[in-house]
Amino acid sequence: MKLIEAKDYKEMSILASRIISEQVRSKKDSVLGLATGGTVLGTYQQLILDHQDNGTDYSEVRTFNLDEYAGLHKDDENSYHTYMKKHFFDSVNVSAANTHLPDGEASDLEKECGDYDRLISESGGIDLQLLGIGQNGHIGFNEPGSSFDSNTHLVKLAQSTREANARYFDRIEDVPKHAVTMGIASIMRSKKILLLASGVQKAAILNDLFHADVSEDIPATVLRNHPNAVIIADREALSKL
Ligand code: GLP
Repeated sequence: MKLIEAKDYKEMSILASRIISEQVRSKKDSVLGLATGGTVLGTYQQLILDHQDNGTDYSEVRTFNLDEYAGLHKDDENSYHTYMKKHFFDSVNVSAANTHLPDGEASDLEKECGDYDRLISESGGIDLQLLGIGQNGHIGFNEPGSSFDSNTHLVKLAQSTREANARYFDRIEDVPKHAVTMGIASIMRSKKILLLASGVQKAAILNDLFHADVSEDIPATVLRNHPNAVIIADREALSKL
């Protein structure tokens, strides 16, 4: 893993957006793996500015998001479909037909998961996967204990994850209990991985990411086995390293 140290959240977001826009400029039909959450918001804002100022072209780009809550309608204000439209897709010239998220409302979720992995491989695989990290080391929604061999699958969310994400919902009871997520193996098939971390609340898990044993107990440690993983973290997130 390569570590890039950023001063703060803004610098982390700028550095991340540069890597992503370079990817898109060097390969017009790049396949991007995208993430949601608070950490990556600034990166999307920077990418939108770059699109407006420098005309970075997304017309041939295809995107696959990591995860989606199960049981939330696509148009629900807390769905990741809504998040992506609001914070990125509606502000760049990506074609709606080229953007993909798991369908958390599919009647046959098992089939949906298999179809999702198939679609990713038919598109040539993910060139660059953007990731955040949960305080318990989850990537996507792969909670501690997830198999490193997992493909896209249905997961039960850890209570700590539901609590961390409750800030977006009116009440904790409204946070879905399940989600569909790309698996660890799906993520590891990406040609390049870019994980972002910001803030003191990520300091303990960042220390584990670099120093704990590679183990399914801390899903993000699997990235140490990836040949092309880059971590961009700010000083607060690196303060326990
Ligand atoms: C969420 C998402 C992850 C995200 C993580 C961290 O549960 N499913 O993809 O990386 O938690 O979120 P945040 O960036 O808001 O800390």
